[in-house]
Amino acid sequence: MNQRFLNRVANVTGAGQGIGKGVALRLAQEGAKVIIAEFNAATGQAAAAEIESIGGKAMPYQIDVSDPSAARRMVEDIAKAWGQIDILVNNAGVVSTRPMMEVSEAQWDRTIDVNQKGVFFMIQAVAAQMIRQLPGSLRNVGVADVVAEEMSGGSGPSEEELVGLAGSYGKIVNFSSISGRRGRPLAADYAASKAAVISITQSAALALAPYRINVNAICPGIVVTPMWEQIDKDRARLFGAPQGQAVTAFINQVPLKRAATEEDIAGAVAFLCSSDADYITGQALNVDGGFEMD
Ligand SMILES: NC(=O)c1ccc[n+]([C@@H]2O[C@H](COP(=O)([O-])OP(=O)(O)OC[C@H]3O[C@@H](n4cnc5c(N)ncnc54)[C@H](O)[C@@H]3O)[C@@H](O)[C@H]2O)c1
Repeated sequence: MNQRFLNRVANVTGAGQGIGKGVALRLAQEGAKVIIAEFNAATGQAAAAEIESIGGKAMPYQIDVSDPSAARRMVEDIAKAWGQIDILVNNAGVVSTRPMMEVSEAQWDRTIDVNQKGVFFMIQAVAAQMIRQLPGSLRNVGVADVVAEEMSGGSGPSEEELVGLAGSYGKIVNFSSISGRRGRPLAADYAASKAAVISITQSAALALAPYRINVNAICPGIVVTPMWEQIDKDRARLFGAPQGQAVTAFINQVPLKRAATEEDIAGAVAFLCSSDADYITGQALNVDGGFEMD
């Protein structure tokens, strides 16, 4: 396979199973050293072992991404172990299937804490490290300076500071969803968190552009991972329908008439992490077989 990510370190959250594991495998196959940042220590270790068994390089790291101080600690630990972080994939996420009128405050808080707050503070922690890795005087322009400059009409480093810097220095991909594109009466908290991920992606793309860090989002459609297996079970229970009916009903609405594979999503993430996407930032890409077209 192409070795687009040789000498790159990639941090993939929620990579113990499902889409995140597919992304970690793909980045490792293309040469990246991968951190499996996972809440479930057992699946995180198994995914890292699987990558190592095919000749890749992977390190499991147990973390709850909803804790910003844990995110900062992880970045320090990775920097000590591997010296750098070049790619961040904010894939970890949670969902619950429950009618909007029955969503509890505890469910709301957990969904927002993992899917929204987790993405925001993981970007902050990792981007700070990416900025520390920058060459030359770019390194010395702090995020606070960029914000101050933006408010006073400035735009970060001067042209002279950017001279000689071709391409990009960091890539961040955040997981939104087709549920971030429109309301979901049975997953209202989830849809709100995924819409917020698109907004966070745009803000971070603007804040980090002066440092040549690209920030984009992926909006997957239906991927039959453990998350979707749970959604299907919950819907079957809610509607008294047979298992498998919900997933089939969704797939029937996909113009390409199939669910995405983990590799379909991983391929799009790898593209956004590659130099082919150096001029793409602040975008949310639907990878959904044509389900959404906005
Ligand atoms: N499966 C789909 O059809 C689909 C569609 C659209 C978007 N997505 C999004 O894609 C991402 C991956 O989904 P998936 O289907 O692979 O889900 P999954 O539930 O199969 O896997 C999610 C992984 O994230 C981990 N995780 C959960 N909370 C965490 C936390 N607080 N800290 C660290 N790790 C945590 C879990 O342990 C698990 O390994 C999610 O953000 C999801 O919302 C999935």
